[in-house]
Amino acid sequence: NWKMDHFIDKAVEKYKTELAGKKVLLALSGGVDSSVAATLLYKAIGEDLTCVFVDHGLLRKNEGDFVENTFKGRFGMNFIRVNAESRFLEKLAGITEPEQKRKIIGEEFIRVFEEEAKKLGKINVLAQGTIYPDVVESGKGDSATIKSHHNVGGLPDVISFDSIVEPLADLFKDEVREVGNKLGLPKELVYRQPFPGPGLAVRVIGEITKEKLDQLREADAIFCEEIAKHSSEEMTNQYFAVLTDLHSVGVKGDARTYGYTVALRAVTTDDFMTAEWTWLPYELLESASSRITNEIEQITRVVYDITSKPPATVEWE
Ligand code: XMP
Repeated sequence: NWKMDHFIDKAVEKYKTELAGKKVLLALSGGVDSSVAATLLYKAIGEDLTCVFVDHGLLRKNEGDFVENTFKGRFGMNFIRVNAESRFLEKLAGITEPEQKRKIIGEEFIRVFEEEAKKLGKINVLAQGTIYPDVVESGKGDSATIKSHHNVGGLPDVISFDSIVEPLADLFKDEVREVGNKLGLPKELVYRQPFPGPGLAVRVIGEITKEKLDQLREADAIFCEEIAKHSSEEMTNQYFAVLTDLHSVGVKGDARTYGYTVALRAVTTDDFMTAEWTWLPYELLESASSRITNEIEQITRVVYDITSKPPATVEWE
């Protein structure tokens, strides 16, 4: 629609003037908002924009490479991928409490980002992919926080710069997607389901290890493939696998095994404040289950989460 065309032209023109000769830094997560903000600013100021993508090792299968290929490969942006997996895993070793995981990841993220920023020398402007609902939400008194989300705020305190730009601050999510489409971002990116900042750390229940993360990545990828194969993407707004810390007995071949239980979760929702579990087709669940247990040696059991929100939250942690 013409409104978003107009938005892009106006924003590009505005930032061309406003940011002329300035060094701009943006933390790119690969989510819709930061991706669209990066692409829009790149269109305006090109080389003067640097994007830092912190790969904390808690991403889904192939996700880091996909983000890198899109921005560095395809768009040719100044794009720095920081492979910080071992740093994060060290910090998370032995931690089982969900809120503590979130806190550690949030703090380490800021530290890594800050170190990268320092290497770049003087930064004039910090850019953020804040969208209108974030602005509204962070203005509210957060008296009943159920889970601490660290998408908004945090960064500005630790890096010295002169100002912040938030090019999407007036837009709703669907408008952000429309801008992303018009800017030529890949569909997979524009219609990405939400993914928590702490990533798979809150989908591996209990202690996080590389081994567990790898198993979860495989299970999650299989589930996503099956959803695509059964053309069921339209009926669910977020879907993923969870690696529970529950072991159960199984048989594989002739041997008795003692492996992990994977839970599959899919929800239907408008705003993620409330959500219904999705009535995925049995055939889909069947093929996901049999593939997961066949293809991943350590997984012996698959369950489907049939709890809505409330009382359950979308994520398990
Ligand atoms: P819950 O689990 O609270 O999730 O029902 C609602 C939506 O928020 C996402 N989520 C997070 N996003 N940081 C984020 O950026 C977080 O710590 C976090 N925890 C949950 C969740 O994936 C769902 O879309």
